[in-house]
Amino acid sequence: MPAPYEKYLKEIMIDTETLHQRVAELGAVISSDYADCDALLLICILKGGVMFLTDLTRHITVPHEIDFMAVSSYGKGARSTTKNVRIVMDLSISLAGKHVLIVEDIIDSGYTLDFVMRMLQSRQPASLRLCTLLNKQSRREVQIPIHYVGFEIEDKFVFGYGLDLDEKFRNVPFIGVVDLDALKADS
Ligand code: IMP
Ligand code: MG
Repeated sequence: MPAPYEKYLKEIMIDTETLHQRVAELGAVISSDYADCDALLLICILKGGVMFLTDLTRHITVPHEIDFMAVSSYGKGARSTTKNVRIVMDLSISLAGKHVLIVEDIIDSGYTLDFVMRMLQSRQPASLRLCTLLNKQSRREVQIPIHYVGFEIEDKFVFGYGLDLDEKFRNVPFIGVVDLDALKADS
């Protein structure tokens, strides 16, 4: 029996082994960059960043805390871009004196992270950087500084490894390209 996600999968963009290798590399670079830091805090942006965070944290050798924040944009559907970002779940700890590294799944237009970075900056962390697994540079509408990028990708709608297809299939262990025709045929 084919797995339920298979009918929506056009092709595999980044396979599991490549993902794991790159996450390990990022972990090594981050460990080296923050080697002398005694107050590193990774902030995972839910829900998409959760797989990336849980793998990345295990490759970071510097002692660090983790926390979670959920944001949402108004508007539903695979390709809705909206400028109304809001906090659905806030952090549980203060950022004062912390070296904050945001861990995100994908940057598309940039609106979500622009909002998140401004908001976190206003809480006066010791430093603030952004790490994204995927970057769709060609879709950028707001410029934001990204310090760590896993993969630069083309403008294709993707799912798996935390990224959803209508809230499902975040558990797929690779990054797959969505077959938009199969999706259309559903609705
Ligand atoms: P932005 O505000 O346009 O940068 O979009 C950010 C959010 O849109 C991401 O955090 C994802 O949750 C979602 N997103 C953007 N592109 C994709 C995609 O290809 N697949 C799944 N979610 C996506
Ligand atoms: Mg996200």
